[in-house]
Amino acid sequence: MKKNIVFALVAAGVILSACTSKVSNKESKLDQKVDSVLSLMTLEEKIGQMVLYTSDWDVTGPTLKSGYMDDIRKGNCGNIFNAHTTAYVRKLQKIAVEESRLGIPLLFGYDVIHGHKTIFPISLGESASWDMEAIEKGARVAAIEAAASGINWTFAPMCDISVEPRWGRVSEGAGEDPYLGSKIAAARVRGFQGKDNNLADPLTILACVKHFAAYGAPQAGRDYNTVDMSKRVFLDTYLPPYKAAIEAGAMSVMTSFNELDGVPASGNKYLLTDLLRGELGFKGLVVTDYTSINEMVNHGVAANDAEAGLLAVKAGVDMDMQGEVYFKYLKKQVEDGLVDKKLIDDAVRRVLRVKFLLGLFDDPYKYCNEARENKLVYAPEHLEAALDVAKKSMVLLKNNNQVLPLKKGEKIAVIGELAASTRDLLGSWKAAGDWDFMKSTLDELKAYNGDANVIFAEGCKTFGDDRSGFASAMSAASRAQKIVLVIGENWEWSGEAASRTSIQIPGVQTELLEKLKTLNKPIVVVLMNGRPLDLTRENELADAMLETWYAGTMGGKAITQVLYGEYNPSGKLTMTFPRNLGQVPVYYYAKNTGRPIYLENPKYKSRYIDSPNEPLFPFGFGLSYTSFQYGKIVISNAILQKKDILEITFKLSNTGDYEATEVVQLYIRDIAASIALPVRELKDFKRISLKPGESQSVSFKLPISSLAFWGIDMEKKVESGKID
Ligand code: NOJ
Repeated sequence: MKKNIVFALVAAGVILSACTSKVSNKESKLDQKVDSVLSLMTLEEKIGQMVLYTSDWDVTGPTLKSGYMDDIRKGNCGNIFNAHTTAYVRKLQKIAVEESRLGIPLLFGYDVIHGHKTIFPISLGESASWDMEAIEKGARVAAIEAAASGINWTFAPMCDISVEPRWGRVSEGAGEDPYLGSKIAAARVRGFQGKDNNLADPLTILACVKHFAAYGAPQAGRDYNTVDMSKRVFLDTYLPPYKAAIEAGAMSVMTSFNELDGVPASGNKYLLTDLLRGELGFKGLVVTDYTSINEMVNHGVAANDAEAGLLAVKAGVDMDMQGEVYFKYLKKQVEDGLVDKKLIDDAVRRVLRVKFLLGLFDDPYKYCNEARENKLVYAPEHLEAALDVAKKSMVLLKNNNQVLPLKKGEKIAVIGELAASTRDLLGSWKAAGDWDFMKSTLDELKAYNGDANVIFAEGCKTFGDDRSGFASAMSAASRAQKIVLVIGENWEWSGEAASRTSIQIPGVQTELLEKLKTLNKPIVVVLMNGRPLDLTRENELADAMLETWYAGTMGGKAITQVLYGEYNPSGKLTMTFPRNLGQVPVYYYAKNTGRPIYLENPKYKSRYIDSPNEPLFPFGFGLSYTSFQYGKIVISNAILQKKDILEITFKLSNTGDYEATEVVQLYIRDIAASIALPVRELKDFKRISLKPGESQSVSFKLPISSLAFWGIDMEKKVESGKID
């Protein structure tokens, strides 16, 4: 019987393909295909399409569900995540296609966040490249490798704006800025789904915009904690990257764990139906985050799972990730008249639609080609791309007396547990990345500078108070000309469920730096971490500091090439690095207040009595081995109308000795508006590469319409007035 049904679908496709190619016809053809499947389904089978279970690979939390294969067979589970490799995916897909009554193929989801096998720098690191092409390429490579390994759906991009360094998940985002965050979100969607969003292409995968919404603003930086913000801040600052990803064509959205204004996201009708589907016109499917329907009981908005399920389905959640709530309660709720059948049909339509777009009904095994998997995973050009992004993501924070670049042949002491680690280079959410495959920073430094010129000592671990390795670190350092100290957080200290109440470098690593300082030798601190840290003490002690994040499969080589000047660092921070935790939240788009610090009155100003207001390293900061000179800015016109475009031009010169790339950033300030606005807002940026001595005229075209904001009457518009 099942075979006949599949044939009928194919036949319908053939007849309908005679239609014209207009988009509306395409859409209605798709709707007809979807409806033809829907018409064959029982209520139970429909609910099965609204269910997502994890397979045995348990990387995201406790596995609640056993017997998922049987559920697939019975049509009770239409989607799986955490299953990968062509052989394993084929096995599960075969059960769905050949053993379930209707043979509807499964979606296979996975957290392909910053690479699948070839791992790119963590997303926060990638964002510091400000290079949209490179970021898109990173997502493209991730999609190609994931698709070659059986995956057709990634739970990325994460579009959560955050100004909270205590929150471990800032490592997965693009930093604090809504404008840059939006560009990056769109670039990642293009990378995953392909430039023209052709999901039928076997080398693209479905993107998932997460975590909707405002997950990046948990109170006190504690993961999963309450979020509460004004609607204006939500619309102006937190919403734009999600919106940009949806406009770029992302066809799935994941709800967030948090509540917003008292309503958990997975039961939030305003977010999922009114805003997402209504105002933003989103046509894809909405999946919950892991068991977030059940968690509405803990939030205190549902008495039990069944009630939580009702909230979710009525809010617009199409798919229950791992919670078993839809599976257990929805059928009876529909039969009892508590849930309108139309809600179920609409949700299932959205899931089936995506499966049709992916071409799974034509070929459910299209992602299961072993030869392709072997050829594409770790392809040389993928490793090249990962190396390129890794270099571009590094941020030079300090470089006194031109300690960097290092000179080949100089004897260096390489110290720190992280220097010899491969696992840490991959960071959190490393997907199927394999650290046995790669080389550590230490190995790469030895390969570049010669074994005899590199003396290694671990010194201490990244955490704990064991100082027994200090003596050998001191001895190694005393035999070298320069010290390269690799310190930071190990990979488990950032990512999900890794919030911290201190943002200092953990353990006795800084104490080791203090000891090494007594040797009076140049010290280069290489940082590995997934969040802004308080580096005040390290900044006092180190001669140079290079922020390398977790730089991925090619991280060791990238660090080496940057340290030796084979690549001149060009990365700029996308999150502010505070001077101390007491300043948090500290971000560049702060407002002036009524008593700004520059006022003359010494006391009654908006300031601290024990710390400057300024962070240690602001958003947009990053040094180079060269120096740049910015010429006088010329604007095309001083008075503009709302439909006009302002042209801004100036000369940029490379006045140093190294070829370099500068990230030029354009900020504006609206001086007086109906509401108080930030002192600076990023409106555009450009990466400009120049040879030593070279100059270039740089120009920006700023549409005045891009100055719109949600004003006093909660309308988004441009207000007239003076703009700096
Ligand atoms: C929980 C995380 O919050 C989410 O980002 C991830 O995609 C899911 N688990 C699935 O692993």
